[in-house]
Amino acid sequence: MGRKFFVGGNWKCNGTTEEVKKIVKTLNDGQVPSQDVVEVVVSPPYVYLPLVKSILRPDFHVAAQNCWVKKGGAYTGEVSAEILVDLDIPWVIIGHSERRLILGESNEFVGDKVAYALSKGLKVIACVGETLQQREAGTTVEVVAAQTKAIADRVSDWTNVVLAYEPVWAIGTGKVATPAQAQEVHSELRKWLHENISPEVAATVRIIYGGSVNGANSKELAGQPDVDGFLVGGASLKPEFIDIIKSAE
Ligand code: G3P
Repeated sequence: MGRKFFVGGNWKCNGTTEEVKKIVKTLNDGQVPSQDVVEVVVSPPYVYLPLVKSILRPDFHVAAQNCWVKKGGAYTGEVSAEILVDLDIPWVIIGHSERRLILGESNEFVGDKVAYALSKGLKVIACVGETLQQREAGTTVEVVAAQTKAIADRVSDWTNVVLAYEPVWAIGTGKVATPAQAQEVHSELRKWLHENISPEVAATVRIIYGGSVNGANSKELAGQPDVDGFLVGGASLKPEFIDIIKSAE
């Protein structure tokens, strides 16, 4: 397929200055495949981005966990794409289910955010995923297709987009999707891209999996043809993140 493996570490709302330095030291000391084989992006809370960027090994990159939907201004508490660009932060995670469910970010709002971030030169990890109720109702593909469509309706160039499939029922639960479950949804997403955008976009966009990935399950998941990497939460704060990166081999 020729899609470079991608491993993201979403630190979520975690860390202290000392903990951040300790995690970065573990990453810097890790033996991993070259960046020709795997692209690694870690995402600390906003306030630690400059510190992480200043001490992180040069073959790893940083991402913000969100950004505002338009040009900065009177939006208390928000961080704009322009600010991230000013800090030379190349990546941003958008549409994480925790923001969709807790903060009510709609598909359209997420799509607008993705489009605006791309327009400012950021690279985007765009998250989609269904809840347990939606899966049990048999609407998984319908849900993730609608989430992806809301992005596709606003984005024409997918070069700087990585699509992250994160079933909500697997996030933080230890209940990882089986390789077959992950592959099924990833292949449906790739089919949707092929049918609704283009065969080239479908062939080149990395579709990564997130939801209770760890050092023990990552290798088998990585072996699935349409799993192009991971977006890792809890395990990205631990030394086993290095093992997850090695699953690219
Ligand atoms: O964005 C990745 C995250 O949602 C997955 O969390 O802790 O299940 O790996 P976790």
